[in-house]
Amino acid sequence: MKLSLFALLAAGLFAASAQAAPTKTEALAATCNNCHGVNGVSVGPTMPNIGGLSEPYLKNMMLQWKSGERYSATMGRLIKGYSEEQIADLAKHFSKLPWTPVVQKADAAVLAKGKAATERCETCHGDTGGKPDDVDTPMLNGQWAQYIQLEMMKYRDDSVKMPHKKMRGNSKKLDESDLSAVAQYYAAQPK
Ligand code: HEC
Ligand code: HEC
Repeated sequence: MKLSLFALLAAGLFAASAQAAPTKTEALAATCNNCHGVNGVSVGPTMPNIGGLSEPYLKNMMLQWKSGERYSATMGRLIKGYSEEQIADLAKHFSKLPWTPVVQKADAAVLAKGKAATERCETCHGDTGGKPDDVDTPMLNGQWAQYIQLEMMKYRDDSVKMPHKKMRGNSKKLDESDLSAVAQYYAAQPK
């Protein structure tokens, strides 16, 4: 009797302390909140949502910045301070959070223009950007429009280090006058 009560108390205490102290990875992930928002749902139009992207995609991004293979304004400098193990932990952490689209409104005419221009993107991104076939392909639905447009401009510019050849090619095939509509189309999709 005494023993089982003790065991219960000990289990309770353990659970309480496990809840109170964030794990090392949670503490590390909290440093991302300033820019990427709580749980990776960003509140700034130039900062991407990252919660719920796939683990291989997140890991690949961070490793490309760490090695200097991929251009960045901010992430490269930041991620060089992390070990490969920490990067793997961060990728796992953010991939387990739900993808939360930040649905942005746009004109019907703009949405129609964007939809028409994204026909060839559907094979990989799905018709609304929310159903990528492959784990290496990020969600675009409810991503920030300004960020989507910025990314496409980077892929289009040969002087910017962006290693993904197919996305370079696809972005270049878009008409410059469609970039904003494409970005707004994906940003407006809830699913
Ligand atoms: C000072 C602001 C800032 C902080 C802090 C920050 N980021 Fe970023 N993050 C950015 C910016 C800006 C970009 C766009 C790429 C660039 O230019 O660096 C970005 C892009 C990303 C992307 C690419 C998303 C995509 O689909 O293109 C990932 C993944 C990411 N950050 C993960 C993280 C993680 C994990 C942390 C915490 C360890 C973190 N970031 C902390 C500013 C920040
Ligand atoms: C062959 C498959 C494929 C096709 C077709 C494709 N994409 Fe992608 N897209 C990808 C992959 C894979 C990535 C991640 C690339 C990387 O690692 O840089 C990506 C990344 C992106 C990103 C960056 C998102 C972020 O969070 O940084 C945007 C924006 C994008 N695609 C838009 C488009 C548009 C618009 C089209 C059509 C004109 C298109 N894609 C066609 C596979 C594809």
